[in-house]
Amino acid sequence: MQTITLEKLQVKDKIIASDQILDLFKKTKISHDWSFEGTTPSQTSKLTHCYHRYPAKFIPQLVEKLMDEYLIGFGPFHVNDLFMGSGTTLASAIARGYFASGTDINYSAELIAKAKCTPIEPTLLRNKVDKFINDLSFLGDKTLFVSSKYKPQIPKSKIERIEYWFEPKTVEELGIILSRIGYEKDENVNIFLKCCFSHILKTCSRWLMSSTKPTIDKSKKPTKPLDAFKKHVKKMVKGNDLFWSVVPENVKRNMNKYLIIKRQDARRQPVKDSTVDIQITSSPYVTSYEYADLHQLTTIWLEPEVDLKEYKKQFIGTSAKTNGTRILKSQVGKDIENKLQKVDKKMADEVEAFFVDIQECFDETYRILKAGGRCCYVIGNTKLKGIDILNAEVFAESMQYSGLKIDRIIKREIPSKILPSKRDAKTGRFAANDKADTFAYPTEYIVIGRKEE
Ligand SMILES: C[S@@+](CC[C@H](N)C(=O)[O-])C[C@H]1O[C@@H](n2cnc3c(N)ncnc32)[C@H](O)[C@@H]1O
Repeated sequence: MQTITLEKLQVKDKIIASDQILDLFKKTKISHDWSFEGTTPSQTSKLTHCYHRYPAKFIPQLVEKLMDEYLIGFGPFHVNDLFMGSGTTLASAIARGYFASGTDINYSAELIAKAKCTPIEPTLLRNKVDKFINDLSFLGDKTLFVSSKYKPQIPKSKIERIEYWFEPKTVEELGIILSRIGYEKDENVNIFLKCCFSHILKTCSRWLMSSTKPTIDKSKKPTKPLDAFKKHVKKMVKGNDLFWSVVPENVKRNMNKYLIIKRQDARRQPVKDSTVDIQITSSPYVTSYEYADLHQLTTIWLEPEVDLKEYKKQFIGTSAKTNGTRILKSQVGKDIENKLQKVDKKMADEVEAFFVDIQECFDETYRILKAGGRCCYVIGNTKLKGIDILNAEVFAESMQYSGLKIDRIIKREIPSKILPSKRDAKTGRFAANDKADTFAYPTEYIVIGRKEE
């Protein structure tokens, strides 16, 4: 029997057909050197990667290996991530002195990514943080609480949601911390402090920590905000020290030139045509994480004017979406959608909308890549209603319709401690590892495309 390889299937100006793609994926073996087995939490949370938790966050080692393999020769290179999330790709690029650009539709992502990518002069930061903590030390003393100059800044428009998630004492203390953050006029330090504030919200709330969906933990004793803040900010300050020491001087002096971060749709990158050397990204998964819900604590405190219902519709891969009249080009995608139509029409429409959204992302990827540049989409397959959702195969097929060549397919194992790997059998959403009963992404793919010279 002949072995199918990508090289054999590649014919100039021809796309690889859907059945050949399916075959190719079936025959792709796991590449163990992409699993990063044995990588410790302190390695995955090095530099500024410790700043904030994020669902389906990359480990920096994966981004670094892709940059090692594809960015050879003289830089500085331009690295892009159109679904930047917490900014792992961008922060790793800045650490190497490359240009970094990216987008995300999520407010929290914009905040976290900006904080993670911006090195702050360590002495300045330490002084600011010490003063900040000192100014708030009265929080431990009830009698001084009322006379403080920091009037609690509690978003009135979201008070119901805030009271649902937080105890009254916590609300007041958080409001005072936020009020003090408002006095910080250095923009980078302000973002740094807000990022820390955002990170501690879960710990200080009634949110069930082990859950990847918003659930109340009735037995939880939330941590006091200032205690949580002090503990986490200490970690962040150390992370910044190291980040500062690795980012090249010329990059630190010209951050406006080296870093572009925008809260906007992935299909509109804030960069010119043919300027990006590599795109390293992981797209949202269809009907798995509802990012707008998951980050609601940050949104209600820091972006209270946002209408959560409307906001959700802007996310790719959510249940708030249907396709309308757009045409799905991928045959693998169409077959999956047809199978789903027979068991769950709504889910079929959501999956179709997801595939078409991603198809449009590849058009944008093509626009911004340099000739010879590569895009690396990290994606896992799953099952919904008993039907295999072959995301990776659909991605590989789709990128061709945007003019990209399939360059390489890497199959990797996800060490279970690094990513949540199970789905709830009823809803198809990611669930706490001890609760769910279907493995969702024990392996995933890196689907790599190339723009031809
Ligand atoms: C898998 S996460 C990326 C995680 C990232 N690699 C990290 O290391 O943190 C996917 C991201 O896609 C974002 N997203 C969803 N819909 C989007 C859209 N329409 N435009 C841009 N980003 C979107 C989500 O907010 C989420 O942050």
